[in-house]
Amino acid sequence: MRLFLLTIAISLSCITASAQPVYHEKYRPQLHFSPQAHWMNDPNGMVYYKGTYHLFFQYYPDSSVWGPMHWGHAVSIDLLHWRQEPIALYPDSLGYIFSGSAVLDKNNTSGFGKAGQPPLVAIFTQHDPVGASRQTTDFQTQSIAYSLDNGRTWTKYAHNPVIKNPGITDFRDPKVSWYEPTKNWIMTLAVKDKVFFYSSPDLKNWHMNSEFGHGAGAHGGVWECPDLFAIDFQGRAVWVLIVNINPGGPNGGSATQYFLGDFDGKKFTPSTAGTRWLDYGPDEYAGVTWSNTGTRKIFLGWMSNWLYGQAVPTSPWRSATTLPRQLGLQRVKDSLYLTEEPVKELAGLVSQVRAPSRITKITTPLKIDIGTGRARSFAITFSNDTGEETILGYIDRNHSGLTDFAKDFAGRYTAPRIADSGKLTLTIYADASSFELFADGGLTTMTALVFPSRPYTKMEIRSANGSMPESLKLSNLASIWK
Ligand code: FRU
Repeated sequence: MRLFLLTIAISLSCITASAQPVYHEKYRPQLHFSPQAHWMNDPNGMVYYKGTYHLFFQYYPDSSVWGPMHWGHAVSIDLLHWRQEPIALYPDSLGYIFSGSAVLDKNNTSGFGKAGQPPLVAIFTQHDPVGASRQTTDFQTQSIAYSLDNGRTWTKYAHNPVIKNPGITDFRDPKVSWYEPTKNWIMTLAVKDKVFFYSSPDLKNWHMNSEFGHGAGAHGGVWECPDLFAIDFQGRAVWVLIVNINPGGPNGGSATQYFLGDFDGKKFTPSTAGTRWLDYGPDEYAGVTWSNTGTRKIFLGWMSNWLYGQAVPTSPWRSATTLPRQLGLQRVKDSLYLTEEPVKELAGLVSQVRAPSRITKITTPLKIDIGTGRARSFAITFSNDTGEETILGYIDRNHSGLTDFAKDFAGRYTAPRIADSGKLTLTIYADASSFELFADGGLTTMTALVFPSRPYTKMEIRSANGSMPESLKLSNLASIWK
């Protein structure tokens, strides 16, 4: 009889596993893009063109751990519902296709376009694995490719690379944009633990103008995936320099820092001192913004960390992006800070709104909005009937579920409160295997993965004096894969 029961249990679990439709598997994000199968890391080449948001990404189509990098491709018209497209760029004799950006070359400065048909141009690093394994220093170079069919297919430039390596091992992740005052393209490139700024009239011939980073920000690892753009603040252009760093983040591994300042087409001059983190959680990395979206700057990161990204217990895919976030600026006391808020398109996923009580039954995905007069006086616990729980306010995932697949996964993470107001607002997005916290209008953000052995079904508000937050709203969200 025991054996019989065991057999039933096994066959039931087989049915459940095989019957899980694609994009609804255990841990599959229901609000975030993830590839149908295999390994993904950084978002790349994000460009908006003709009503479509293009998302390219570091992709290894033969395995669910990192390997020879390709650019995968997905498209969306609303930043939420994605359709994965055929691979855009394959490795070639110059090497793997590492991270980079894409632009609309409106004026056909590159000459790749045809009459009435401006090209999309991708600018990316090629990483030569042979040179790397021989421990040479010049194995990373910058190359370009163009598309004349709305990003579907790409032709590599015949004279790649467009920037040769000067003998520096970490020399990668070009982010390019148009600088109108000098009518030049500008490139920000990550070089060891600095960035180099280049300019070009045609995306093919590049001139190195300056470097930035000495004595500024965090230097506990290599700088990667930079971004440079201006945000208008009360009629003034404030330049934002984003620099990802690995390791050396506030939680030990990968993270994103930023600087505010000024840029004159050649040189960046910071106006902020010290290190500013864009996200204080452990799982936002390699984030950069979409190009060609006008004054709206939309940021997207890889929702993982190199400390354990290749070991997370998902199958047949590994990794998702963060929620797309609109960037802005806010003044607190005498200083400006970057803010990140989930894009307004997410409101279209709301299916039901309720006012939860202290203990509430839940299913993901969902959004929770909290407002309170007394900051830090409460915590929100998500749990299941096996006793696994993640506690938010800070993020404590020590007992969140599966944690022992990598030694650095379990932990408790805190973020400083930047806002100086007595009132605290907090919005939480809970997905199948992640939480994203946005406090005080996006002044403080935290992103963390969790892998409960069974979905969390209970949300509980706890506070030191037993009081409830002043306002509390729970919104059920529809899956983006429906
Ligand atoms: C960042 C990164 C980039 C590199 C790519 C390789 O996560 O290391 O610097 O281009 O990933 O996949």
